[in-house]
Amino acid sequence: MDQLKAKIRELGEVREGNILKVDQFLNHQLDVELLDAIGKEFFHRFQHAGITKILTIEVSGIAIAVMAARYFQVPVVFAKKVESQNLDKEVYESKVYSFTKQREYIIRVSRRYLTKEDRVLVLDDFLADGKAMAGLLDIARQSGASVGGIGIVIEKGFLEGGAELRAAGYPLESLAIVDKMDQDGLVFRP
Ligand code: G4P
Ligand code: NA
Ligand code: NA
Repeated sequence: MDQLKAKIRELGEVREGNILKVDQFLNHQLDVELLDAIGKEFFHRFQHAGITKILTIEVSGIAIAVMAARYFQVPVVFAKKVESQNLDKEVYESKVYSFTKQREYIIRVSRRYLTKEDRVLVLDDFLADGKAMAGLLDIARQSGASVGGIGIVIEKGFLEGGAELRAAGYPLESLAIVDKMDQDGLVFRP
């Protein structure tokens, strides 16, 4: 997606530890025009996949999922990372290890909002090692929902997450794949 790649080149900052900072438009301040174009692009790619629900994870996945949902006209359900007093007792949960934070956390989705009748599009902002995505797919599996697709805004193509999902046969669409990044700049997969 050229508009996205241009925005990443213009505003993305490469940080130590292979971190791409995109706070100006995706992770802190939100460029709503761009997010709308991203939502539309996911619709374009998955509109024939029979999607009944969009599944994502808080926090950064939510804005993307909401914009896409306007096109699909389906609900969004997001996995919670923060333990909540009000969350139903009846939940699907999965353990996720975060490399950037070097710790394990639990993600949860209420059983009320994901069932075997659902066909989900799983969306997230970044795909790195794919641990968060594995947790979301585990939750979808527990619920009996089928996976109609996976959509990622920025995939770090030099890590294994994307390759593993493709090898497992998931329909994965990443709008920008960064194959290399350093102080000299970014290389996108053509
Ligand atoms: P993984 O899920 O793919 O295995 O990756 P990891 O544990 O390393 O990612 C943890 C968090 O960091 C996720 O969001 C992920 O989206 C994000 N992330 C990974 N690599 C980058 C990067 O290069 N740049 C940016 N900006 N984010 C990255 P999160 O911390 O759980 O936060 P949020 O969704 O609440 O914002
Ligand atoms: Na994220
Ligand atoms: Na993030």
